[in-house]
Amino acid sequence: MTQRRLFVTTALPYANGKFHIGHIMEYIQADIWVRFQKMRGHEVNFVCADDAHGAPIMIAAEKAGQTPQQFVADIAAGRKPYLDGFHIGFDNWHSTDGPENHELAGQIYRDLKQAGLIETRTIEQFFDPDKAMFLPDRFIKGQCPKCGAKDQYGDNCESCGAVYAPTELKEPYSALSGATPVLKSSEHFFFKLSDPRCIDFLKQWTTSGAVQPEVLNKITEWIAPGEDGKPKMGDWDISRDAPYFGIEIPDAPGKYFYVWLDAPIGYLASLKNLFAKTGRNYETFMADPAVEQIHFIGKDIITFHTLFWPAMLHFSGRKVPSAVHVHGFLTVNNGEKMSKSRGTGLDPLKYLSLGMNPEWLRYYLAAKLNAKNEDVDFNADDFMLRVNADLVGKFVNIVSRSAGFITKRFGGQLTHHFDPAGAALLQTLTAASEPLAGLYDQREYGKATREIMALADQVNAYVDQNKPWELAKDAAHNERLQQVCSVLINAFAVLSRYLAPVLPTLAREVEKLTGLSLASWHDTGPVRAIAPYQHLMQRVTPEQLEALFEAPPAEQPAQAAEKLDSDPNLLPDLLPGGEAIAPAITIDDFAKIDLRIARIVQCEAVEGSTKLLRLTLDVGEGRMRNVFSGIASMYKPADLQGKLTVMVANLAPRKMKFGLSEGMVLAASHADEKAQPGIYVLEPWPGAQPGMRIH
Ligand code: 2FM
Ligand code: ZN
Repeated sequence: MTQRRLFVTTALPYANGKFHIGHIMEYIQADIWVRFQKMRGHEVNFVCADDAHGAPIMIAAEKAGQTPQQFVADIAAGRKPYLDGFHIGFDNWHSTDGPENHELAGQIYRDLKQAGLIETRTIEQFFDPDKAMFLPDRFIKGQCPKCGAKDQYGDNCESCGAVYAPTELKEPYSALSGATPVLKSSEHFFFKLSDPRCIDFLKQWTTSGAVQPEVLNKITEWIAPGEDGKPKMGDWDISRDAPYFGIEIPDAPGKYFYVWLDAPIGYLASLKNLFAKTGRNYETFMADPAVEQIHFIGKDIITFHTLFWPAMLHFSGRKVPSAVHVHGFLTVNNGEKMSKSRGTGLDPLKYLSLGMNPEWLRYYLAAKLNAKNEDVDFNADDFMLRVNADLVGKFVNIVSRSAGFITKRFGGQLTHHFDPAGAALLQTLTAASEPLAGLYDQREYGKATREIMALADQVNAYVDQNKPWELAKDAAHNERLQQVCSVLINAFAVLSRYLAPVLPTLAREVEKLTGLSLASWHDTGPVRAIAPYQHLMQRVTPEQLEALFEAPPAEQPAQAAEKLDSDPNLLPDLLPGGEAIAPAITIDDFAKIDLRIARIVQCEAVEGSTKLLRLTLDVGEGRMRNVFSGIASMYKPADLQGKLTVMVANLAPRKMKFGLSEGMVLAASHADEKAQPGIYVLEPWPGAQPGMRIH
């Protein structure tokens, strides 16, 4: 068998949030495939990275009072417990903000320009005059042009489902500042995807076997000519104007690559980073036509990976993906609507913190996954059944019913003189090796686990026919007992090898038990002796599953929020101040926020802003602090001068358009500032002095 050279990726997660169970499912799917290929002796380079750029991350960082770089670094620092916890063995984890990506994105862009596929056009877009930035569609809100529903997003109405351009919204406002956006024109860069060369290439690439049939159907619709003879898919706007957290476009100051241009390039950047770390040559590897580039992704990002990305690679003279494997979404408990208060319904870290075995989840997901992009449902009852009845009841039980006898009665020694039925059974198990390998390779994990469980059924039938516990009652049957238990332990070792891509930790334990190596798909049996047996896997309990799906303590607001989801009109009466109480925190969390009494020594209007006042605050530090506060609609500077208030004294300084803001003044407002305007600064009771801490 020739050795395959594989470059495998999962989608790069946005660096603005923790992993949810959907990420973990994708990583497990890819990790099983990678572990299998490594067992087959193939070379695999399995990489991922944080998708660091884009307006939402820039805005989230600003809200958090951090630079985008700090913000994404904090998110990146939280990745390890998830990846280690679920045994996801990426060979490298990097960031799309790394130097490799900046360089590669610039090169690819230059190559595409050289190929005549980049064009500039002037377009008109909404601009937030307060924030001095163009607004992404998601950050423009207003009244639906069709049904008149208020507070709808710039691209579609959640109330009536209408789809429209942001410019069609009535009474539009910026979701960032509340300001009325103005139309402003700007020059944008486009990748000419509708160019006949691109269409020809995509027709050829998409039918080359790189995508699943159901994915090909979708793509064919996008590429097919519409009534005007042009493909439905138009050219692709790849630039954004400053301010933007991203990669600056070569020779175009103030213009940045749209995050979706540099994100997939991050695959290459992470690989390049891995090669630099391990002293290998990235260029040589990528130039090898035998290298297969394989992406695992979810069905929501098909266009980017099957149209834009292959075209970008091809026309910049690079290797194109060999395959894009698309999976469906993960739903939880029959697709039950995931409420905000309960997050995604299944919190991966909570799962681990409850002492639940990560390999239960790996096995369960494997049992449900196939090569199609169908959704997968995590169902608590089904999970318990598959783990307890199949994984533990059928598989682990084989060894727990036989190892004890071998240890106690035969000093751990096995015999290799098997009875004919036992030998035939082992033969059947071994013969399944190649068919199972085919199923793993085709990502038909559900079929593979079913086959393996069917083999386990045969082994259990052998147990029932031979009843080792009966044989053990009479020393005259000693030889037979050793024979039967030896067959069982060998059978267990073979099945453990077959499950090793799914259950890597269990496989390591079986190695210790049997002295065999399960690192290769190739059979290295038979087992000659075993170490003393320790139980390999517990059963999942109903209490664990109950705890996993238990709602967080803030019960009432959570219920209120759910009601709100179903009927927005109920909201104002149910939710204090128009929003649910935030999830509970500990006193230690609270202690992180250093609240101090501050004297407003000076207060003035900010030129160019209708919202902000500039405050000079004395917190008793022997220096003054400069703080901007969005309270100009309620107070004249003279109202506040000399007054005491409360500020967050340890908030990281934040660079704003008008200068540095060194803290935040506390003020109260309703969640729906439009419906209930007003913002009220806090003032302490007499006696409080600047610098006193609020406990
Ligand atoms: O949809 C997402 O979560 C994106 N961050 C995926 C990017 S995949 C690749 F292109 F980087
Ligand atoms: Zn509507």
